[in-house]
Amino acid sequence: MKNEDYRQDVTIDYSNVMESAVGPTHGLARGDFESLREKGAATHKWLAELKAKSEMGFFTLHDQDVSKIKKYAAKTREKFENFVVLGIGGSALGTTAVNNAVNKNFANLLTKRKRNGYPRLFVADNIDPEHFGELLSVLDPKKTLFNVISKSGATAETMSQFMVVFDMLNKKLKGKWKKKVVVTTDPKKGILREIVDEYKLDSFEVPPNVGGRFSVFSAVGLLPLACAGLNIDRLMEGSARMAKLCEAPEIADNPAYLFSAINYLADTAKKKPMVVMMPYSSRLYGIADWFAQLWGESLGKAKTRDGKEIHCGQTPIKALGATDQHSQVQLYVEGPADKIAVFIEVEKFRASVGIPEIFKDKPDVSYLAGSSMNELISVELQGTKYALTKHQRPNMTIKVPEINEYTVGQLIYMLEHATAFSGGLYNINPFDQPGVEFGKNFAYAMMGKDGYASLKAEIEGKGK
Ligand code: PA5
Repeated sequence: MKNEDYRQDVTIDYSNVMESAVGPTHGLARGDFESLREKGAATHKWLAELKAKSEMGFFTLHDQDVSKIKKYAAKTREKFENFVVLGIGGSALGTTAVNNAVNKNFANLLTKRKRNGYPRLFVADNIDPEHFGELLSVLDPKKTLFNVISKSGATAETMSQFMVVFDMLNKKLKGKWKKKVVVTTDPKKGILREIVDEYKLDSFEVPPNVGGRFSVFSAVGLLPLACAGLNIDRLMEGSARMAKLCEAPEIADNPAYLFSAINYLADTAKKKPMVVMMPYSSRLYGIADWFAQLWGESLGKAKTRDGKEIHCGQTPIKALGATDQHSQVQLYVEGPADKIAVFIEVEKFRASVGIPEIFKDKPDVSYLAGSSMNELISVELQGTKYALTKHQRPNMTIKVPEINEYTVGQLIYMLEHATAFSGGLYNINPFDQPGVEFGKNFAYAMMGKDGYASLKAEIEGKGK
């Protein structure tokens, strides 16, 4: 850690979730936190055990050796104009979130020189046929590297993307297609690993003890991000710094535990089953999208770890400041008091845009003249916080000193650790996703995958 790095720490201001700010019906009291002492200590112990036994790998991804990834990225920079991620869910959202946050805005529209020679990054994500087909139609296959990412190697969306690309490359490039594909998958298991071995493709590994939505700091995210020119060492340093801060056993001293405890108490003690994640930064909107998957898929569970029915989990809602002040904020201020809001505030933007001193004779807009968009967006955030607090709607603010690899590394790690801790508070398994598997199996059955005939018959009402 560099000397000045402590000034870059991501922090949480939770004064507006307390009863002193929003009243006793919706706000939390010291005693609420006290009530979590035992559960918190047990969860701290559980997570420490998972980490010690290497059962949950995301805790230590920042300790991995990233030299192979960096070397590969350097080679890619020389050879390719485009880098395309073929993947979905945990294999796509983190990459998009970090790239959008840190890379230049509109990087894909810049010349190669202005991108410092790095390829454009595209994350295909969905299987919307128009979107995917049109993406392929604008890329020159000779200058494009496709990164197929699937931990299981079985996801229908990703595999269908790969099959389309495989066929296209084969037809257009004949024998030269192999160097246009790099695969990220399980080190041993799955069809993708089999394909890597059969065709001798370049490949990277998803550690078996790292789940999809916790995998952005494995090769899943690091390879595309390094290829797009991001400083993955700084990303790892940020993650390591936050992991250090999250070693504290007490909720009050641990940013991840604090974030988790506030949401847990809001949900279970104050009837707030929804959490709005609202960055006041377009760059960080992808973080809200990534968080929605992390929080929703990890905590939305039917059973506790000891098998009791619970059906828990806060519904994550994505919003963008200031844009959604003209859309959703009315609902948050005056609608049902069933939400807690989390703002992400950027303390220093990388650019400033002054508002020119014109229209001085027009009072409707002259108040803006001579100010800046930086000041305006800051005032708008203060205004939304004020409106919510005044209407007794709890809200907290994650403060990011400025957006860079180091702070985004911290932010991502903190939210991952918080999600794991919440799993302990609800007493559910935050690392599985039976509901997602249900949907995957439906697709396998209806698309005629071997071994799924009886499920297909059951779905069609022909089964017993
Ligand atoms: O978090 C998860 O486990 C899921 O969202 C997966 O990332 C997603 O379903 C894609 O799975 P895979 O990487 O196996 O293709």
